[in-house]
Amino acid sequence: MDVKTVGIIGAGQMGNGIAHVMALSGFHVVLNDISQQALDSGLSLIQKNLARQAGRGKISDEEVAASMERISTTLVLADIGKTDLVIEAATERETVKQAIFEDLLPHLLPHTILTSNTSSISITRLASRTDRPERFMGFHFMNPVPVMQLVELIRGIATDEDTFKTCQAVVEKLGKTAASAEDFPAFIVNRILMPMINEAVYTLYEGVGSVRSIDESMKLGANHPMGPLELADFIGLDTCLAIMNVLHDGLADTKYRPCPLLTKYVEAGWLGRKTQRGFYDYRGETPVPTR
Ligand SMILES: NC(=O)c1ccc[n+]([C@@H]2O[C@H](COP(=O)([O-])OP(=O)(O)OC[C@H]3O[C@@H](n4cnc5c(N)ncnc54)[C@H](O)[C@@H]3O)[C@@H](O)[C@H]2O)c1
Repeated sequence: MDVKTVGIIGAGQMGNGIAHVMALSGFHVVLNDISQQALDSGLSLIQKNLARQAGRGKISDEEVAASMERISTTLVLADIGKTDLVIEAATERETVKQAIFEDLLPHLLPHTILTSNTSSISITRLASRTDRPERFMGFHFMNPVPVMQLVELIRGIATDEDTFKTCQAVVEKLGKTAASAEDFPAFIVNRILMPMINEAVYTLYEGVGSVRSIDESMKLGANHPMGPLELADFIGLDTCLAIMNVLHDGLADTKYRPCPLLTKYVEAGWLGRKTQRGFYDYRGETPVPTR
């Protein structure tokens, strides 16, 4: 199938990044959220990020304008139904995602491919609640979407080859690289990355190091471009906790137990950059460690 229109559900950090790269690659995008504010700020962030790319000479001003013209926004989920490919990028909670798919099903075209950008939830289980498990798969972008090269493509148990090939072609058109992952908790990248972040939080919790010393150690000692706590703030601590819970529940191994300190930060609403506070406080000029 030749995908021309893409429906994106959720205009948060991931949804707006996905809309950005899709529109820039020539796809027509319909972006949906339950919050008008999320749609407005998502759209202005896309404009800002595209303008930054133009400022660096990576794209032309005409491409910025044409990309923005290819994006429409809507609070009505049914408007997403008439697209060739749907990418669900709403909050990482299974009940939220299931309710979205349930509401969307009556409005879909027969050929529409349904995908989820979930970081960890079972694709097979999400697919089984729809009318099209063979045309359902995981389409997992990395954050920030315009910068990161990888997209994990995850086949559910019923996903057919045409669906996989169609999504693979979309990734190629975006100029990104697809990695094929099997449908087990957290797939490849987060299966490896999240236990490392969780261990960094344990290292902080047990007083082995401060926020700054843990991040500096991993940057200078392991050559990571960002420290694990800085990265956790970037991803969102609620998302990190949700992924650890999926690993813990799905693999039933105590090595995946979420650190109580991570839970406490989430309980406080200190979710990282998106709420201006996490392992660092971002409300001032420069980030200040909170421990
Ligand atoms: N943050 C990351 O680094 C990252 C990376 C890869 C994948 N993901 C995945 O992408 C998804 C979104 O994560 P995010 O970081 O963008 O979260 P976010 O909190 O920034 O955005 C989520 C958006 O979904 C919207 N939303 C909630 N319920 C909705 C509904 N019923 N219908 C439409 N919109 C709804 C919210 O209003 C919000 O704007 C999650 O599944 C997450 O696991 C996140």
